[in-house]
Amino acid sequence: MSEKTMYEPDPGAVETYRIRDWQTLEEQSRKDPQAYWAEQAAELQWSKPWHTVLDDSDAPFHKWFVGGRTNIVTNCVDRHLEGPRKNKLALIWVGEDISKVRTFSYFALNREVEQFANVLTAMGVGEGDVVTIYLPRIPEVVFAMLACAKLGAVHSVIFAGYSADALSSRIADSKSRIVITADGSWVNGSVFPLKDIVDEGVHFSATVENVIVVRNTGQDVAMDPERDHWYHDLCALPIARGRCETVQVDSEHPLYLLYTSGSTGSPKAILHTHGGYMVGVHTSLKQTFDIRDEDRWWCTADPGWVTGHSYLVYGPLLAGATTFMYEGSPTYPHPDRWWQLIEHYGITTFYTAPTAIRSLMRFGEAWPSRRDLSSLRLLGSVGEPINPEAWRWFHQVIGGGRCPLMDTWWQTETGMFQITTVPSMPLKPGAAGRPVFGQEAEVVDEEGNPVPDGTEGLLLLKNPAPAMFRTLYNDEQRFIDTYWSRFPGRYLTGDAAKRDEDGYFWIIGRTDDVIKVSGHRLGNAEIESALVAHPEVVEAAAIGLPHDVKGSAIHVFVVLRTDREPGKELEEELRDHVAKHLSPIAKPDGMEFVDKLPKTRSGKIMRRVLRARALGEDEGDLTTLEE
Ligand code: WTA
Repeated sequence: MSEKTMYEPDPGAVETYRIRDWQTLEEQSRKDPQAYWAEQAAELQWSKPWHTVLDDSDAPFHKWFVGGRTNIVTNCVDRHLEGPRKNKLALIWVGEDISKVRTFSYFALNREVEQFANVLTAMGVGEGDVVTIYLPRIPEVVFAMLACAKLGAVHSVIFAGYSADALSSRIADSKSRIVITADGSWVNGSVFPLKDIVDEGVHFSATVENVIVVRNTGQDVAMDPERDHWYHDLCALPIARGRCETVQVDSEHPLYLLYTSGSTGSPKAILHTHGGYMVGVHTSLKQTFDIRDEDRWWCTADPGWVTGHSYLVYGPLLAGATTFMYEGSPTYPHPDRWWQLIEHYGITTFYTAPTAIRSLMRFGEAWPSRRDLSSLRLLGSVGEPINPEAWRWFHQVIGGGRCPLMDTWWQTETGMFQITTVPSMPLKPGAAGRPVFGQEAEVVDEEGNPVPDGTEGLLLLKNPAPAMFRTLYNDEQRFIDTYWSRFPGRYLTGDAAKRDEDGYFWIIGRTDDVIKVSGHRLGNAEIESALVAHPEVVEAAAIGLPHDVKGSAIHVFVVLRTDREPGKELEEELRDHVAKHLSPIAKPDGMEFVDKLPKTRSGKIMRRVLRARALGEDEGDLTTLEE
């Protein structure tokens, strides 16, 4: 029997969804995207209404909700305090040691955010200042992000698995004066020493004046009496007490920076703003996940990535939902940890990554089948293409065949979903879905001409969207060159895709040298520069190779100084070196020592040739090869 390739929605359930007639909404929103977005924005609070929905006179530097004033915190927290939601749980947090549980109503969340904001104010943080946050998945990351936003300051969250080098280059680029961190984080029963990494990362910093340290793992850490402050000590001071007003800012006021990898050069900071981002994130979560007041929403992403920003922190709070956060990993101490938590906390909507699903599938159905997962009503996937086999397992074994599974395609740059489904649409395992309302996408050839349905090509977005990034911080030229200049007026996503005859988009993967490893976004350039920082390495090239669980595995080619013998020992040393200088998530899976790298006559590394070689495929046209 052949596998089902299309899942029709249950007509009974469709009656209950917020969006029933998606065809009409799709048609209308595309006819007049601005009217559509104006309607969405009107659901949120603005202290001063906008006069223009979209100003594209200086494209690609788009401005949204021009003239408006608001603050994303007004909408995530403050407005919920005015009615019964005040007493509703905003955040449920469970530690890696699951006997540690902390819960916060909207009232309590506000108190925490005000306290953090008071502390930051006392340290001189004000509108436009960049604050670096290097925290694990603990409630304080939410408080810190919201506290910055509340003051009109700009947060720059750095994934708490990045090395001191990565941290210090990001701090230097953003000129941040304050770093918020913790003593450590729990990783599968051991302590990962965050504070030590910060000490190393800020040692030579020309800008960092204060480091705020949250106590989490409890071990002794060195504290510089001038620079470092325990957060709990600061909270005991009178300055931490009392109300703190949410600063009303212009719609286009920066909300956060998030460093992300591209195909060349060092990571660049994506800049998002208050007004448009808030509207886009709110709309997308409400529509795709039909979010409701009684939902317990769990997004498993880390706040260090965009998914954590948009759909662990901001999206669910904008919706007034209950967001669930778990500190640990899915397989520690047993591979049913997630299923146990879904059962215990009655999670209704569960949003995770294909790589996690694939790794949990390997442990078999016995683990989830021992748990009652009947509270679930919707599932979601993000980060990389979900293969139909993983889709079906997730849908059937976890969702009991009754929960619509929303794939969501988007990027750090887009801030919100761009290609996805809503629960009333037919679903196709492996297809990301349709462009969101108000958006259109197309697949084109190298010259920018649309290709026929079913043909692979470059994926472009045709319309600006309110939650899209405004620029690359400190690098406007690169913003234009990378995304907007190849096909003027259209946004180049960097992904390859094909569209089918029903208008569904199937994502193939990146067309550049961005490598998605277990859903984490890494650039070949970062990995290569970590390798060449090792004294034995002259040159290196990193590529992604297909991997059953991780999606892509990192494979590197290394040219050594002549006097060192390649071998297992050196290989291990280099792998550890990358872990230390970039991140453990960037450790190469495969390594080959070569005498030289294939290059074009202009000196560019031919990764296509390396990929073919690693996969044992035909190396193709080599006429442009240097020799
Ligand atoms: C990939 C993560 C297929 C894609 C939100 C994109 C996906 C890159 C999907 C952005 C999906 C993300 N199906 N591919 N549902 N979601 N991608 O910035 O290649 O970490 O360009 O944002 O992830 O990665 P980023």
